[in-house]
Amino acid sequence: MKQQKTKKRFCMAMLGLGFAVSASALTAVPDSVYLFSYNVHPGSGLNMAWSADQKYWSPIGPEHAFIKSDFGTWGGEKKMYNPYLIRTQDGLWRCVFQVNDYSNQFAVAVSRDLVLWQPQDYPYMEGVSSCLEPVLKYDANRKMYQVLFKTKEGDYYITESADFYNFSKPAKVSSDYVDSASRDVVIDGRKMRGQITKVAYAEINTVVTAMEAARYRESLNAELACDNEMRFKDLKPLEAQISINLDETKKISDKLIGIFFEDISYAADGGLYAELVQNRDFEYSLADTKGAQKDWNSQYAWKAQGNGGEWSIEENNPIHKNNPHYALLDIKKPGEFSLVNEGFDGIPLRKGEKYIFSMFVRQIEGNAGKFDVALEQDGKVVASTKVSSSNKEWKKLKVTFKAEADADKAVIRIIPKSEGKVAIDMISLFPKNTFKGRENGMRADLAQVLADLKPKFMRFPGGCVAHGDGLHNIYYWKETIGPLESRMPQRNIWNYHQTKGLGYYEYFQFCEDIGCEPLPVLAAGVSCQNSSDCGAGQQGGIPMEKMPEYVQDVLDLIEWANGDAKTTEWGRRRAEQGHPAPFNLKYIGIGNEDLVSNTFAERYLMIIKAVKEKYPDIIVCGTAGPWCEGSDYEAGWRLAKDNDIDMIDEHYYQSPGWFIYHQNYYDQYDRNGSKVYLGEYAAHAPGRPNNIETALCEAMHICNMERNGDIVEMSSYAPLLAKEGHINWSPDMIYFNNNEIKLTVGYYVQKLCSNYCGDEYINSSLTVNEGRKGVRDRLAVSTVRDSKTGKVYIKMVNLLNHPVKGKLDIANAESIFGEQTSLNAKLHLLTGDYDDTKALPQAKDIVVSLDFEYELPAYSFSLIEL
Ligand code: AHR
Repeated sequence: MKQQKTKKRFCMAMLGLGFAVSASALTAVPDSVYLFSYNVHPGSGLNMAWSADQKYWSPIGPEHAFIKSDFGTWGGEKKMYNPYLIRTQDGLWRCVFQVNDYSNQFAVAVSRDLVLWQPQDYPYMEGVSSCLEPVLKYDANRKMYQVLFKTKEGDYYITESADFYNFSKPAKVSSDYVDSASRDVVIDGRKMRGQITKVAYAEINTVVTAMEAARYRESLNAELACDNEMRFKDLKPLEAQISINLDETKKISDKLIGIFFEDISYAADGGLYAELVQNRDFEYSLADTKGAQKDWNSQYAWKAQGNGGEWSIEENNPIHKNNPHYALLDIKKPGEFSLVNEGFDGIPLRKGEKYIFSMFVRQIEGNAGKFDVALEQDGKVVASTKVSSSNKEWKKLKVTFKAEADADKAVIRIIPKSEGKVAIDMISLFPKNTFKGRENGMRADLAQVLADLKPKFMRFPGGCVAHGDGLHNIYYWKETIGPLESRMPQRNIWNYHQTKGLGYYEYFQFCEDIGCEPLPVLAAGVSCQNSSDCGAGQQGGIPMEKMPEYVQDVLDLIEWANGDAKTTEWGRRRAEQGHPAPFNLKYIGIGNEDLVSNTFAERYLMIIKAVKEKYPDIIVCGTAGPWCEGSDYEAGWRLAKDNDIDMIDEHYYQSPGWFIYHQNYYDQYDRNGSKVYLGEYAAHAPGRPNNIETALCEAMHICNMERNGDIVEMSSYAPLLAKEGHINWSPDMIYFNNNEIKLTVGYYVQKLCSNYCGDEYINSSLTVNEGRKGVRDRLAVSTVRDSKTGKVYIKMVNLLNHPVKGKLDIANAESIFGEQTSLNAKLHLLTGDYDDTKALPQAKDIVVSLDFEYELPAYSFSLIEL
């Protein structure tokens, strides 16, 4: 959920390259010129043109958008109409614009230099239907901003603000009052309406330079391996000197690689969470899919068969208020009516394996309450059992039975065997063999491939799932613990249903089971910046009067995870659920790539302050927006610096070219500032494959993160899991269906790098005998040592279509070679054509001598274990 934003950092880099820009060649222009700001296409961004005489206008770009709207959801929204730009007396540029024709909000944006814009705010205008054609003025005497706007009813309003954030309730004014300074100007033969401001020529030059730099960078970022044959035609045989100095080391994070679990693409229900019955609680609702799937309701995945009875969905006297719907069966002819559940794309069964069936039953009328339960495929019964209850109150029945044959796509059939009316709910089927045999546990094979990654931490439950599609959709951890029937099911932001059967208790237990640190992420008091159903649309904030309660929820989570089982309330609740010992939570994430608006900042800092006051040892991980630069990134890092936030979660999905040309991304980071958690990243090539090209980009970035492991504390590829047929996002690290797991080349990179990691970085460098642009940029090396085992791991990446003859020069080798001149080692090699999606890593024994020569194959990742 990203948007390209204006780039400042790169502009500085371009100046360093001596890049020629068109405007700087014009030395004969006057000291001051005119800037025209406008919107070429209604809905697009803010465009600019300049002129020396207000007659001949040169578009800057042309059609380069200096601001784009961040308002609302992708697709229908994120549109800018009628921008109105002025410079106020403090020298800042301020712009207001209309976001649509139906919200009682307009957008405000601020910039110092027209290049880097601060995150936008969208004040709510009480009592009006819409905010059209806003006009911005500044009353210098009263030090007040005034925004005048129209409504679709044709009325005019004024609102005022001293800080450009808190605006007064709008008051009606007469149309005469809207004294717009907008002008019509002809640009490239087209009449445009906008504002003219006199500026120093130097300011135009800054803007043009930034724009040209952004274009240059875009061309580098667009480089792809498919053009390498052409790009690197006639290269001489490549030779590289790889120097590793075992005496030059620095401490780095021992938690660099972890996993990020989000319930996206059916990663949880129907995925890692081993429940086999779909819609077990009859709580699916049309709203889960935002009305897109018409049959998505309480009966989804269920089908009645036979004439011996009827069924309906009822709400009277449910098991729990959070689980209001249940099925009422009215049985006239026992055995001649059944209810069938299709599972998630069918129910997979393995011969000889045991399955646990459970169901809540409440007898209402007659003798009803006896059931046969059958698992069958194509009419053939694979397993069967019986349950019964004559209880007038809800009672949970549970039985274990065995599958007599394999089935890939079975169904579960509930056959009432007695007459009368009976209510049933929470109809569940789990394999007994879950990961580590946990009740209500994880699908064993999927959990195992996650465990095989040896992740050092796991972030959960999202992603956008954490902050939700609107305030009502925020993921509240308290709604996910305790008995399953009392948990609060919820619409998943990815347009399906979450049972919350996989909740906080299960996440923490899973982390413990695979030996990694839990990293729960909670909303920063705001919902997703791309929310589609948050009042009028944009990222809303929990009302300030409700924030103390929300902050308490966050504090309670820490007590729940770490509190004493006897002396603390939440510790006691954890123990009740089955884990008396504390989970030893060390990290907590606040926020997920939010719009770093004022609404956000107020709430975010309030939460972080409260956590640090009560739990100073908990490491708080804040956020810096959904991009690796631009307004949210800058504002997020500014908040981090000003407030000493322990760690910042960065997210970026980038093109292969970006990874190639940003190997130094972290080299310039402040060594004394907040630590970095790269919480979501992946290389995105056209068509979104997970192939050798993208996997090598990620391997390269891991080398760069290891070199910067003194500040980059953690990283996690995203997304982790995706179920075939239900994919919301590509690429993913692991694909699966009910019967198979399909690991990707990107998975193998993560696995190798995580399995062979260290806590000391050993100074390594690489030089190559070819200066052509892009050659050195496609090579990477990193060496780390695990101080506990003394093992040294050398990682080398070659993203070129040519092999590279590498000469290793290991300085001060005595610490690992001792008196010897060579060592037995292991080489792990992942290589293939750039578009290969099936390559597997190969391991072989090698001997490494002090003057070791190793040829890095074209398109390869090599890892040497010394
Ligand atoms: O990883 C998929 C999504 O990407 C996450 O939910 C969100 O944080 C990001 O936009």
